[in-house]
Amino acid sequence: MKTDAPLKNDCLDAVQASPEVLSFLSQRRSTLVKLMQNPGPNEHELALILRLSARVPDHRKLSPWRFIVFQGQARADFGEHLAKKFACDCPDVEDARVDFERERFLRAPLVVGVVSSPVDCPRGTPKWEQELSAGAVCMNMLLAARASGFAAQWLTEWYAFDPEIERALDLAASERMAGFIYIGSCVEPLTERARPEVEKIIKYWSK
Ligand SMILES: Cc1cc2nc3c(=O)[nH]c(=O)nc-3n(C[C@H](O)[C@H](O)[C@H](O)COP(=O)(O)O)c2cc1C
Repeated sequence: MKTDAPLKNDCLDAVQASPEVLSFLSQRRSTLVKLMQNPGPNEHELALILRLSARVPDHRKLSPWRFIVFQGQARADFGEHLAKKFACDCPDVEDARVDFERERFLRAPLVVGVVSSPVDCPRGTPKWEQELSAGAVCMNMLLAARASGFAAQWLTEWYAFDPEIERALDLAASERMAGFIYIGSCVEPLTERARPEVEKIIKYWSK
């Protein structure tokens, strides 16, 4: 296994057929967060997952994304923000529902927030492209986590879109959450979900 970071201008293979990766992609699935348990990645595994996540197409090398890592007590601390905002928005809900919000980030041993952080680039890389690159980071993180032997799920839920939670996360006005990637372990087998009939969404263009 070769996971070292190549240096700038290092020579890389032009193409690299990998039946193992094709098999991996054919079986790839998210793991519902409710099935997750300990352990999560250790420090070394997390560093690799984050490095591989950032290895995405990025027009003009802007790195228009960043990470917020929630581990250990930080997950419970952030839950206080979620519970407070939820109770404020929905004052009539039962305490148990607010407790659920308080414990949202405790559902997995690790949660990584991926922030889409577009750079103002007049006449340069459109914001749309930069946001797509942030989506690619999230997808790479799912793949890197799973290839490291962990379960992962990409969630946004309500708090990815809430202005008050954005403030608690210290997002700049130009930034948005691309998602929260929950990462943990899972011992239960997964069942396949319905997939699109790809033939139906393909059109071969002709004049
Ligand atoms: C941007 C984005 C946000 C998502 N947010 C949620 C969410 O809030 N709640 C949810 O149940 N699934 C959400 N999903 C879907 C799951 O992450 C996942 O795609 C699905 O459960 C199973 O798909 P898979 O097995 O092909 O990965 C989201 C997916 C994407 C791409």
